[in-house]
This record gives sequence, C-alpha cells and structure tokens, in this order.
Amino acid sequence: MPRRKRERIALTDEEGGMALLQIPGYDHQKPQEVPLEAIRDLMGDCRLCPLGETKTNLVFGVGNPNARVMFVGEGPGKNEDLQGEPFVGAAGQKLNGILAQAGLTRDEVYIANVIKCRPPGNRNPRPEEIQACSPFLREQIRSVWPDVIVCLGNFASQFVLRTEKGVTKLRGQVHTTGHFAVIPTFHPAATIYPSEWLPLLEEDMRMLGQWLRDNPPGPGKA
Ligand code: URA
Repeated sequence: MPRRKRERIALTDEEGGMALLQIPGYDHQKPQEVPLEAIRDLMGDCRLCPLGETKTNLVFGVGNPNARVMFVGEGPGKNEDLQGEPFVGAAGQKLNGILAQAGLTRDEVYIANVIKCRPPGNRNPRPEEIQACSPFLREQIRSVWPDVIVCLGNFASQFVLRTEKGVTKLRGQVHTTGHFAVIPTFHPAATIYPSEWLPLLEEDMRMLGQWLRDNPPGPGKA
C-alpha cells in the first residue's frame, strides 16, 4: 500500500466545521457515486495523524456497500488492529449477537469507525485525530448512503449528530440529520461489564428493526 502524503489528499472548504475530501476523478461526489474502494485507495497508508505510525493495520470498514443500515463505532481495538477489520474482538461478538434484535445479519450492514487506526493502549481518540480522519468516514457515509446510521457510543454519536450531549441522553429515540435517520446507542463494549446497559442496547436494536419495517427502503436499497 503506498504511503499517502498529506499534500496528496486534498481537503476543500469546510461544511459544518468538517473539511471535505476531494476524491480524484469525481467532481460532484453525489451520494452513492464514489465507490468505497476509491476512498480506501485515497487513504493509502495514511499519515494524516500520528496513529498512522503506530498502527498495525488501517481498519477502513467492512460489509454491504449498499446497506440500509450503517454502524459507526469509535476506533479499532487490539484485535481489529491486528486483523484489519472493525468489530472482530469482544465488542464485535457482542455486536453480532445484538444485530438479530433488529432482524439483521452482519453481512447485510456496513460497519466503520470514526477513526481508522488504533490509539495506543485503546485510549480515547484525540480531537485532532478525529478531525484528520473523519472526512473519510463522511465520504464512506455518502458512498453507502444508508437509510439509518447507528452510532455506537459517544464518539460516533457526537460526530454524526454534531452535538456534545452524551449517549445516555441521546439514546432511545430516532434522530434525523439530513437524509439519515440516526439511532445513537451504547457502545457494545460498554455493555459487557457491567451489563446493565445491555437491555437498553437491545431495546435500541428492536427500535431499529421497527423503523426498518415502518419505512420503505431508500433509492438503490433492497
Ligand atoms: N470498538 C470500536 O469502536 N470499533 C471497533 O472496530 C472495535 C471496537
């Protein structure tokens, strides 16, 4: 994978405080226009923040590129860093388990994180790391153009909903931002020990299932 230098990644004007990525070969970057591979290719072996130096693998995202539902987590943990795939460790087992509550399987959805490289020791991502990495998530969301974005935990919820509120305040209802229904909920890792939040996460997944049954699929969605 070629090392990606800062000057080769063009960021245009800001939209709502977030720098926009210019994907070479795509002038307008309409929803569902830019394939995920083009975004992954643009990231290369990204060094836009120091996490690019310490990671083992960049964890881009996985799943159905035409998914109705996109899950957004925080950032890779140890297992994800080693395998290059999001949510493959303990939190991933938990996520796989609760998808059924929404009538979904892992193959049907698309899964990505706010940041693509593991913070050392699983510390929280820093604001400057989120700032550097989040334009790629934004393009992933525009590429998949899901009907629903499920935000797992505070970092994803605050990024997608552009709020400083915590997930305990935000969860339990369907929000809307632009085209997207947004369901903020607990990060699966937060429901392992202690498990008192697990029933609430499951409740949010059932709410997701109900929303999917109540709303017709958007353009290009089966
Ligand atoms: N936690 C996350 O937020 N994302 C992963 O991919 C794994 C654990």
